[in-house]
Amino acid sequence: MLSRVLTVLAVLLATFIYRSGRLVKHGVFTLPALPSSYYVNGDVQTHCTILQEPAHTLDYCEDMTFWDHLDAGGTVTARFIIAGCDPNRKAWNTVMGPLRNPEPRAYLWLVDTVDNSLQRIELDGYPEGHNFHPLGMEVTPSQDGAPSVLYVVNHAREETTVEHFTISPDTPTQALWKRTLSSPWFVSPNALALTSETSFYVSNDHLMTRRLPFPLAPALPLVESIAGLPLSWLAHVTVNPDGTITHEIAALGVAFANGVAISPEGTTLALSSTSLGQVYFYDRNTTTNALKYRETVSLPFFNDNIMFDEEGALIVTGHPHFPSLIAVAANKTDARAPSWAVSLTPLSNKTHFAKSAHAADRKYDLRAPLSVSEVVPASEGWEVETLFQSDGSVFGTSCTTLRDSRTGSLYMVGLYEEGLMVCRP
Ligand SMILES: *[C@@H]1O[C@H](CO)[C@@H](O)[C@H](O)[C@H]1NC(C)=O
Ligand SMILES: *[C@@H]1O[C@H](CO)[C@@H](O)[C@H](O)[C@H]1NC(C)=O
Ligand SMILES: *[C@@H]1O[C@H](CO)[C@@H](O)[C@H](O)[C@H]1NC(C)=O
Repeated sequence: MLSRVLTVLAVLLATFIYRSGRLVKHGVFTLPALPSSYYVNGDVQTHCTILQEPAHTLDYCEDMTFWDHLDAGGTVTARFIIAGCDPNRKAWNTVMGPLRNPEPRAYLWLVDTVDNSLQRIELDGYPEGHNFHPLGMEVTPSQDGAPSVLYVVNHAREETTVEHFTISPDTPTQALWKRTLSSPWFVSPNALALTSETSFYVSNDHLMTRRLPFPLAPALPLVESIAGLPLSWLAHVTVNPDGTITHEIAALGVAFANGVAISPEGTTLALSSTSLGQVYFYDRNTTTNALKYRETVSLPFFNDNIMFDEEGALIVTGHPHFPSLIAVAANKTDARAPSWAVSLTPLSNKTHFAKSAHAADRKYDLRAPLSVSEVVPASEGWEVETLFQSDGSVFGTSCTTLRDSRTGSLYMVGLYEEGLMVCRP
């Protein structure tokens, strides 16, 4: 029996090293040599601040999204951030464990990008006794004062749902609950990218989840993550008027599908494969929402959430050292886990090194204390540059970064970090 178990483990390990050996070497077996902090546009001490609030509920945020207010002509007149923060994550995390206590509800926060002021968003009309543990979220822009639609993935006690709210610029601290979307297809929803007020892409991070009975969980989800098994998927979901959903598979066979984002023109979709440390790019049919695989870019970390800025650069945030993150999630004393965020800027094929025979040998990202170049070969289609990195002492467990193209400001949250970090050039 033991020899059979060892054989299975050896095969899994071999599979994993074969598929993602580089990331295993740099992100599992060695602690990456990251600085205490580095910010691409200047000294962290003077350029970055961490927004916190007295009750410590702007804490352990998994995702955040820009909420734009547009005038009648479609110009951005104000930009806010909505963040989902769960101080109880160490007792309830259906992705990494544990599943101990889903009771205290998590929080939504509203951040004004002009003055960094913070306001808590109340959940108006939310059902009594329904848990609230936000993961991925996205909101439609408000057009000329009209209410926006906000969808939030919710790791509730019994199942993971998607909560449908509206939120209006008149009363921006009240999210009016409309309904809970529930489906057997929602096996492990994680991140969202909206395609209209009534439709979105949603990633499912695992096929085998922590919700399975013991001993299937945690064994099977761990094997799925560690072996990089390509069992998860991206779906496109249409919400019908009666609250049922129409579910279509948009991309299958992904290992740990996580962050998802649509480019400003709508014709490219990017998807994180966390356990392989890769982002996949797809051509998106804007009429049918069908996707066609185009290319892969490798990252020097286990990439989590992603966002496109208005210039079409993809901002990717991740976990450079997986064992450290697990130690933090397990509430080990004094554990800390590093942070790393990069931008992927489309390379013009006119640059002298694009598509050349030596493109992959090119050194790049040379300003960063630990260059991406040290870990992964150059991408042919994208210039990869470090925006922020930290060994976890200044800001740890980074999972989402937003970049405001108008100001260059960077906003970062960490899965197990208190506060929202703002860095201004
Ligand atoms: C984490 O550990 C601290 C002590 O180090 C303890 O006070 C806290 O309750 C623990 N949290 C959970 C969720 O177990
Ligand atoms: C999108 O799909 C429709 C229906 O299959 C097709 O007619 C159209 O040409 C596609 N658009 C692109 C850009 O591929
Ligand atoms: C370069 O990019 C342009 C625009 O994306 C495209 O039309 C052209 O075919 C590309 N040329 C090469 C040599 O790949």
